[in-house]
Amino acid sequence: MTDEVSRNERIKEASNYLRGTLAEGLKDTITGAIAEDDQQLVKFHGMYLQDDRDLRPERTRKKMEKAFAFMIRVRIPGGVLTPGQWLALDRIARDYGNGTMKLTTRQTVQLHGIIKSNVTAAMKAIDAVLLNTIAACGDVNRNVMCNPNPYQSRAHAAAIALARAVSDHLLPRTPAYREIWLDGEKIAGGEDEVVEPIYGKTYLPRKFKVVVAVPPSNDVDIFAHDLGFMAIVDDTGAVTGWNVTVGGGMGMTHGEPDTYPRTADVMGFCATADVLAIAEAVVTVQRDWGDRANRKHARLKYTIEDRGLDAFRREVEKRAGVLLKPAAPFKFTSMGDSYGWSHDADGRSHLTLFVQNGRLFPKQIAALRKLAESHDGDFRITPNQHLIVAGIPADKQKEIHWAMNDAGLLAPWSGLKRNSMACVALPTCGLALAESERYLPDLLTALDEKLAAHGLTQDDIVIRMTGCPNGCARPYLAEIGLVGKGPGRYNLYLGAAFDGSRLSKLYAEDLDHTSIIAALDPVFAAYAAGRQKGERFGDFTIRAGFVAATTNGPDFHANVRVKKAEAAA
Ligand code: HEM
Ligand code: SF4
Repeated sequence: MTDEVSRNERIKEASNYLRGTLAEGLKDTITGAIAEDDQQLVKFHGMYLQDDRDLRPERTRKKMEKAFAFMIRVRIPGGVLTPGQWLALDRIARDYGNGTMKLTTRQTVQLHGIIKSNVTAAMKAIDAVLLNTIAACGDVNRNVMCNPNPYQSRAHAAAIALARAVSDHLLPRTPAYREIWLDGEKIAGGEDEVVEPIYGKTYLPRKFKVVVAVPPSNDVDIFAHDLGFMAIVDDTGAVTGWNVTVGGGMGMTHGEPDTYPRTADVMGFCATADVLAIAEAVVTVQRDWGDRANRKHARLKYTIEDRGLDAFRREVEKRAGVLLKPAAPFKFTSMGDSYGWSHDADGRSHLTLFVQNGRLFPKQIAALRKLAESHDGDFRITPNQHLIVAGIPADKQKEIHWAMNDAGLLAPWSGLKRNSMACVALPTCGLALAESERYLPDLLTALDEKLAAHGLTQDDIVIRMTGCPNGCARPYLAEIGLVGKGPGRYNLYLGAAFDGSRLSKLYAEDLDHTSIIAALDPVFAAYAAGRQKGERFGDFTIRAGFVAATTNGPDFHANVRVKKAEAAA
């Protein structure tokens, strides 16, 4: 660690509230890229500059510029879209992007392959349907997630209202977004405090992520996030207040044990009326206490480890003017989605579709477009990269069921597939060390053969893969986690809890396709033969001694007995 602030801090400070030279850079037609500093700033506007890594070798050979294009991530609090908004995103993906849509693990949509000359038009089209992309990436509060479950109507209504209120409250106030992408007009800025009353000139030390959960479903993965609110519900189904969680996070770096994933702590309980004050205080304490010298140590999880939960809680209470009560008892049972049809008390029906790895291909997009054209419920992206078509009238059910079946959007039988997620990785993600989204389906097919041999086909086992240790698909909370190490090679983690409350532990390193299967097959066999009634796979791998239980972040790298590839195979 150094005493100096990191490069990103200087870029933010000099950016004049996220303007940088973005407006000028967009007009430069000589390159498909933008200036280096602007590449950091553009994240706050919901975009990453990327290049197609599949095309890199050929373009280098031909001495051509990389195939640059932008990824645009939409801000969709709670993942709820109207059919009109869905249709607009579909149109933008086809008109300006590569024609696919990625439903993300944080309930948004990512559009890939948008070249520079199309970005402004895409942003205007997003704005036209009352959506935006501000703060979808960057050192700021990102998309606020919320349990999308439409059948627990009362608690869900309270949860989504809370998610939207927190999202609005923590939005950056800079007019730069409108200036650059929409109006083109520079609006005279006020005093610093007025421009960003919560964030100030340099925003947060790192990204910040908020979720709202409704137990018993932990589909939002509350323990993976910086700040969480957990609905506490009385016998009538009414929300009486919220448990507050702080300090969860996934990202780490291979070979750097000072970096680790961490599950959030439950900090206390607050009333609905106090939620915004608490959220703001958590953000401003992290703004002031977070590490601005070392970005790998800058997330709230490290602030809490360094300062202690008690000191953090006291400072939050002081700034919010609210005393937290002791946390209320709660119980989570799973983090997955319930696929298929569900029906609520108001007589409406909802269909949860299965979108493998969240990637919608043209045929599936076409089927959903047809549905959206006549649907008047809403579309809800789940935290597991799937999609709920909510509010379907009885007379439409059959037709919609078969249309979705034909498009390959109904859930498969395989318990492993049903509980799988993969991040994007190659070819767009510049940080990917290995394939993820494009590879996981093949691996699952191979693993399913083994599971079938052990009679485990329909057992729910959570598996998640990422192309690098940043952990965008939250692999350290999966019962089977695979994290890219290099081309075609993965680290294998086991032992996380099915309800998302316990991290996993490294089990084997540097595995290729064959050795992943060889490493897992004996564990599957042991589980089939030796599990206790109702025992989950993750819990079993600990009891049977395959891995030690991880108790929290700093303990993630402890008690590891790693198997090398050869030994595992
Ligand atoms: C140091 C940490 C991280 C960095 C630098 C990072 C960077 C990125 C980048 C560049 C992408 C774009 C990939 C593409 O679309 O081509 C991405 C995707 C994504 N990231 Fe991260 N990420 C980090 C950690 C995380 C964590 C911990 C989470 C969630 C808990 C997360 C959530 C996501 C989501 C939801 C996507 C969209 C794709 C998907 O659903 O797989 N990221 N990230
Ligand atoms: S986990 Fe790594 S490879 Fe996957 S999307 Fe995130 S940053 Fe990219």
